[in-house]
Amino acid sequence: MGNGIAQVAARAGYSVVMRDVKDEFLQRGLQAIDRSLQRDVDKERLSTEEKQSIIERIKSTTELEALSEASFVVEAVTENLSVKTEIFSALDRITPPDAILASNTSSISITRLGAATERPDKVIGMHFMNPVPVMKLVEVIRGLATSNETYERVRSLSEKLGKTALDCNDSPGFVSNRVLLPMINEAIFTLHEGVATRESIDGIMKLGMNHPMGPLQLADFIGLDVCLAILNVLYDGLGDSKYRACPLLKRYVDAGWLGKKTGRGFYEY
Ligand code: 3HC
Repeated sequence: MGNGIAQVAARAGYSVVMRDVKDEFLQRGLQAIDRSLQRDVDKERLSTEEKQSIIERIKSTTELEALSEASFVVEAVTENLSVKTEIFSALDRITPPDAILASNTSSISITRLGAATERPDKVIGMHFMNPVPVMKLVEVIRGLATSNETYERVRSLSEKLGKTALDCNDSPGFVSNRVLLPMINEAIFTLHEGVATRESIDGIMKLGMNHPMGPLQLADFIGLDVCLAILNVLYDGLGDSKYRACPLLKRYVDAGWLGKKTGRGFYEY
């Protein structure tokens, strides 16, 4: 999702530093940005020159120290608490003291991420939805120590990015994934129990509920490893067995069938 966030920020006129651990990941991200902007050029909603200047506002790097002058950071690393806390404590050392450190986490506690820094008042959740250039929502999550000033800055930035910010308190899965993931998990259970085929399950939800894509296709699109990680956060954090991940989901993740990004999930790509 990092490249989508970099793209909307650069398109809104900001200078962006996009950092990843490997150059090949950065190249993949830049290609995704190019493809996404090209859709708008093809539809004559963006000129080739504008596209070029958006791309030029994005500097890519593998060095975390390149963020030393950032006034606003949006972290979008893998959905793992220890990886995220490590990044937050490093960002706390590297970035200017008044910089806001936002996380695009889909379920991890913002309060915990804040506690990994010396500035928990400036740590906040800024949860974008995929595909970031298209989806209007930013779910804004306030940790226990997040200040009103930080919250207002995030609201105002979200608006400048063309998004609508809706807020919620720090609770496992927030609102979006606490509601979405049990639905996806239940769809996987219906497949697992042979209630219907994948096409039927997705078709029923698309045609019957007017969802833009079925829950199994959406799970592939989110990433099955991410879905499993979110369900585990719900299960552990809320202590209710209704959030237990379907065994079929676990098996697919064990097999490395992680959805669209690996070429195979509930569907083949
Ligand atoms: N970049 C830019 N534009 C894109 C794009 C991208 N990556 N992907 C799609 N689009 C644009 C298209 O250009 C098109 O624009 P237009 O209507 O203005 O011409 C529009 O989106 C629709 O695209 P398509 O016609 O190609 O395809 P669809 O009509 O099937 O729409 C979709 C694609 C928008 C992805 C739609 O299927 C959808 O809304 N799916 C559900 C998405 C969703 O639920 N996202 C949330 C996931 S959960 C999450 O992210 C949280 C995390 O924590 C798990």
